Amino acid sequence: MIEPLRVGLIGCGRISDIYIQNCQSFAEIDLVACASLDLAESQAKAATYGIPNATLPQDIISDPSIDAVLNLTIPAAHAEVSLASLDAGKHVYSEKPFATTLADGQAILDRAAAKGLLVGNAPDTFLGGRWQTCRAMIDRGVIGKPVGAQVFVGTHGVERHNPNPDFYYQAGGGPLLDLGPYYLTALVFLLGPLSAVSGLARRTFDQRKIENGPRNGEWMDVEIETHVVSQLAFAAGPIGSMTMSFDVWDSDTPRLEIYGEEGTLCIPDPDPVFGANIFGGPVLYRQRETSRWTHQPRPTGREAWLVAENDFGFNENARGLGLLDLAYAVRKNRAPRASGDLAQHVLEAMLSILASAEQGGAMIPLTTPCERPAPLPRNFSQRPQP
Ligand SMILES: NC(=O)c1ccc[n+]([C@@H]2O[C@H](COP(=O)([O-])OP(=O)(O)OC[C@H]3O[C@@H](n4cnc5c(N)ncnc54)[C@H](O)[C@@H]3O)[C@@H](O)[C@H]2O)c1
Repeated sequence: MIEPLRVGLIGCGRISDIYIQNCQSFAEIDLVACASLDLAESQAKAATYGIPNATLPQDIISDPSIDAVLNLTIPAAHAEVSLASLDAGKHVYSEKPFATTLADGQAILDRAAAKGLLVGNAPDTFLGGRWQTCRAMIDRGVIGKPVGAQVFVGTHGVERHNPNPDFYYQAGGGPLLDLGPYYLTALVFLLGPLSAVSGLARRTFDQRKIENGPRNGEWMDVEIETHVVSQLAFAAGPIGSMTMSFDVWDSDTPRLEIYGEEGTLCIPDPDPVFGANIFGGPVLYRQRETSRWTHQPRPTGREAWLVAENDFGFNENARGLGLLDLAYAVRKNRAPRASGDLAQHVLEAMLSILASAEQGGAMIPLTTPCERPAPLPRNFSQRPQP
């Protein structure tokens, strides 16, 4: 067991509940304080979950007893809060996107390196059981050498279920920056870093109407592109395509498929809005010799080792798993898996897709260094682990 990391949470909005619940279940994380711009909001969160201290962001940043900041603010505030936390000598784990500009992302990495601190970033879904299973299957050669990938996420935005959807339609939001990190991070985990990307994008509606909650009927301006298609080239050779849209009412297209020389992996997401958040869930595959899909996990059969491989744990909504891995990284002096380098690479890919779309769709080479993250050790769910 490592010495627990003392963590202060900044940002007590919608996503904070699941983080708080999970962090409080991890013995390696001691959630000692929470803050938001609205003190009443943080006080309510602290009261609900028994967090010892409800305060303002600056108090967390200036508290010398806090080791790390969990940054769950809105995208436009990620860089400001992460940089202030690093300046105060704290490790940072932030929600996605890493930052809204590549320069801000680089500033975070540079500041962390200069101070000898670690930076982690969401999404950590790729550490979940489903994605670890996919990785094990690819590494075991179940589908042979990877050829390519296809990703499709089509929803009609968030204004029918989120009462404050404005930031999804402002700079730093949009389907690509909001949903792209889940899929691009998973792809880099499965296939390795990207070498170049291209994109086409459009904005179907200049205004969108909030259709739930107290602001029902209010119109918002749309500042970003809401239907984005892209092409992906991976450094190791596979090629792929990816569509991210807030302008699609429905689709039966699977969320993600990986094609190999000997077979196909298919990752269906049944829920078009929340499917991207899934840590666990089925993995389908078929191989050269099989004529139909094989459902993973399956209880028996000749691929018994696959059943064992599927037992990674973390199949529920395990948000915070990346922070848990960062806690081990801090104590064991290694890099976190859901790292700032990975997030910056994914950010560069997304911003390059949008830049390519502005320039008519040419391929843009990527320059940010990033390594294919290591799989989680099989025993990670029964910590302590190496
Ligand atoms: N809501 C979701 O389902 C969801 C899912 C996955 C990821 N995320 C990501 O999590 C992040 C937060 O999303 P949310 O839905 O919880 O947002 P939210 O608007 O509900 O909450 C944002 C919180 O950040 C605080 N905040 C905003 N600006 C700040 C600043 N400058 N300094 C300090 N605190 C500040 C606000 O006071 C509030 O407590 C976003 O990056 C989003 O992309 C959200």
